[in-house]
Amino acid sequence: MEVIIRPDATAAADLVARMIAGELRNNPRLVLGLATGNTMESVYAQLVWMHRKEGLDFSGCRTFNLDEYVGLSINHANSYRRYMNHHLFLQVNIDLQNTYMPNGMAADLAAECDHYERLIVKHGGIDLQLLGIGQNGHLGFNEPLSALRSRTRVKILSPVTRAQNAPLFSSADLVPHRAITMGVGSILDCRRCVLLATGEEKAAIIAKAVEGPITSMISATALQLHPECALILDEAAGSLLGESAYYRWTFENQPEWEPFRDLTKNGSSAKHQVKKQIVEATSDV
Ligand code: GLP
Repeated sequence: MEVIIRPDATAAADLVARMIAGELRNNPRLVLGLATGNTMESVYAQLVWMHRKEGLDFSGCRTFNLDEYVGLSINHANSYRRYMNHHLFLQVNIDLQNTYMPNGMAADLAAECDHYERLIVKHGGIDLQLLGIGQNGHLGFNEPLSALRSRTRVKILSPVTRAQNAPLFSSADLVPHRAITMGVGSILDCRRCVLLATGEEKAAIIAKAVEGPITSMISATALQLHPECALILDEAAGSLLGESAYYRWTFENQPEWEPFRDLTKNGSSAKHQVKKQIVEATSDV
């Protein structure tokens, strides 16, 4: 695991977008694992901007999302399909047929979960999985006590998670109680994982995820088992880490991070510019 601390949320999201773009340019047939949540919106806005201004090509890319609520149709305002269409898929040249998400409306949910796992295998596995983190440390919707070897399945959402997501629904009671989520084991099978966390409300759980013991109570701790995993944080989310001087040294000195050290010089990470991109990216849907 590597931990990278950037000065602010914009710089952190910009770095993640550049990492994804780099992988996509190296492999136009990339199988990309995607996540939802507020934190990801800046990443998707930046990718949309790169598509429009730099010609970043999504035409050969396949995507698999981590999770979807059970019982929400794809047209529901809070479905993750709707989120992905809005923030990314309809803004770039990806073939919608190549964008996979669990079907939370399936009559047989267990069969749908098995089908999703098989689809990922059929496409050769996920090359790069983008991750956020819930306030309780979940990845996708792997709530406390998620088995570290779990596969795609239905999970009951914890009260903490339902409360965290409630502001997006017109009433807290309308937050679904269940979701389909890729399992912790499914996530660990991805070739590379990149987790983005920003803001001081994530600082305590990030410290546990990175420097605490591995436990099924906090699924993000399982990333300590992954051989190629980077956590990209802003100063606030990294503020409770004990070894941050070491993490900073790694970023400043490891050759692999050299192309990402001063993105501002390359002209795409100024804060105002990303804000403008978000407005541009969301104005025409
Ligand atoms: C939901 C998603 C998670 C995501 C989390 C973080 O719970 N299922 O995959 O990591 O939201 O959301 P935010 O970025 O809004 O904090």
